[in-house]
Amino acid sequence: MDVDWAAWRREFPALDKLVYLNTAGGAAMSRAAAAAGKQYFDEILEGGDAHWPVWLERTEQVRQSLAALLHATPGEVAFMPTASLGMNLVAQMLARPGGRILVADREFPSATLPWLNLGAELTVLPLAEDGSVALDGIERQIDDRTTAIVASHVQYQTGFRYDLGALGKICERHGLRLIVDATQSVGAWPIDVTRDGIDALVFSGYKWTTAGYGVAGLYVSQALLDSVRLPVVGWRSARIPSAMAYDRLDLARSAHALEAGHPPFPGIFALGASLSLLAEIGVARIAGRIDALTATLHDGLAAQGYAVASPRDPAVRSGITLVPVGGGRAEGAPHAGGRVCLQRRRPAAGLLAFLQRRDRHRRLARAAAGTRCGLKPRALSPPRRPPGR
Ligand SMILES: Cc1ncc(COP(=O)(O)O)c(C=O)c1O
Repeated sequence: MDVDWAAWRREFPALDKLVYLNTAGGAAMSRAAAAAGKQYFDEILEGGDAHWPVWLERTEQVRQSLAALLHATPGEVAFMPTASLGMNLVAQMLARPGGRILVADREFPSATLPWLNLGAELTVLPLAEDGSVALDGIERQIDDRTTAIVASHVQYQTGFRYDLGALGKICERHGLRLIVDATQSVGAWPIDVTRDGIDALVFSGYKWTTAGYGVAGLYVSQALLDSVRLPVVGWRSARIPSAMAYDRLDLARSAHALEAGHPPFPGIFALGASLSLLAEIGVARIAGRIDALTATLHDGLAAQGYAVASPRDPAVRSGITLVPVGGGRAEGAPHAGGRVCLQRRRPAAGLLAFLQRRDRHRRLARAAAGTRCGLKPRALSPPRRPPGR
């Protein structure tokens, strides 16, 4: 089946106005996701809490969709406000002082800090020049204190994409836990937590699932849920919440117990609409599209004389491309009359640096024009200098 990408792009009004290269930061949102979130506010505006049972039911439907997307069971997925909070809960279930976790150099801080905070230590895996992590080097780093591999499926700084199946096999061979932050991949790359032996996974909703801020997902395998003490509990953690037992623990052994109280409804409903969209297109097709556009971008950059500091190998690249450029302050998000959106907040050399250099900015935009931007030439005006610079 051919996907009508132009029609899907029309579902994201921001794409009509902006050269959108910022999905790794914060994604555009579809009309359907915005409508689903807004519907909640309309309902509570008009009816107060009258829709409460409906909201709970809708939440469970989204849970089922999320479980299907990840190849988990509904009992293994929970909604969180942020991926960072989800990783903290996982660390609280598994970290032990002096235990070592294997992580890539320059990993996203929310993947590592929760473990350090609980006394775990890091074994840092070096990066190749293009940001790749050599999987055959991982096993040499495992020792008798190593307890887990903690990995962002797609590395936010380099775009390197791990082969989760290969990580799963390493963990199986050495009796380690596999903990994944899939914030930069859910919605963009297929994920099968069961096939790949993932013990826990977190992701945030505002990137590749295009659900906006305020919602994130947490997967915890049933085996893990059955074997650890829940680090947080509340009235909705009870096996029978309506019993309102306050004087004894009778806890559900399912991931929703980790929500403890009410989940963030509007975000969940936006996520639900996004998941329907993803299911309709198919994540494998989206991955293919991202890869084809990335190839075009890489070729365009090479033709314009730029180096690419992200993997070029289709087996490990992603939708994130790092382009080193020299000098310039790399912060802020100038929007060239609201038309161009290229944003990187870190002072690392990268795409944002283009914004500081008018000539280069134009050339980057040309390189990107054949890719997902669908850029019109008149949208290429360079950003104005922020006042005072
Ligand atoms: C890999 C990764 N994990 C987590 C986050 C942050 O997610 P949240 O703000 O929902 O904790 C980011 C944000 O860039 C990220 O790239």
